[in-house]
Amino acid sequence: MSRMTINGAPVEFELDPRTPLLYALREAANLTGTKSGGGQEDCECGVCLALVDGVALRSCRITLAEAEGREITTIEGLSRDRSHPMQQAMVAEQAIQSGYNTSALVIAGAALLERNPAPSEQEIIEALDGIYCRDGTYPRLVRTVQRAGRIMLRQESVSAAPASGIRAQDAAAAVPALSVPETSKASSDSD
Ligand code: FES
Repeated sequence: MSRMTINGAPVEFELDPRTPLLYALREAANLTGTKSGGGQEDCECGVCLALVDGVALRSCRITLAEAEGREITTIEGLSRDRSHPMQQAMVAEQAIQSGYNTSALVIAGAALLERNPAPSEQEIIEALDGIYCRDGTYPRLVRTVQRAGRIMLRQESVSAAPASGIRAQDAAAAVPALSVPETSKASSDSD
């Protein structure tokens, strides 16, 4: 039996204490926002990040025995309504790369900003290193973390991301780069 707190709730896992935290989160607790890139010993993908006592750690490298008594926060628990500054800034800067690494980027940025709400570009690169894809979104990711820091410091505010379950055309109205084909609007209107 391994006991810990996950997203604010006490949890007991009846699993082998050598089980990686990643698999307990995904397979036993159904917290699939923490992604798996395989989790083998040589895996460096970083998509499995979770906060352990506020520090962003690779959950595939931590056993349940090592997580005993600790406070775990996954992307599902960072904020219930997607209002964490990293989530708000990620949407505002349109910095999404893929569904695979986005939650880890948010977790890494949140951990960095908790330590330092005004990080330098170099500090941001180091915090996100190994998680982001080296594509054209990279400058937006740096701006995302900087903007999230300003939101945390109340130097700036952004409107909240569309709520879960929003109709596609409403989401499109809130995201300038998104458009919804007329056929999709018609079927959504008739739902
Ligand atoms: S799953 Fe790839 S580093 Fe953890």
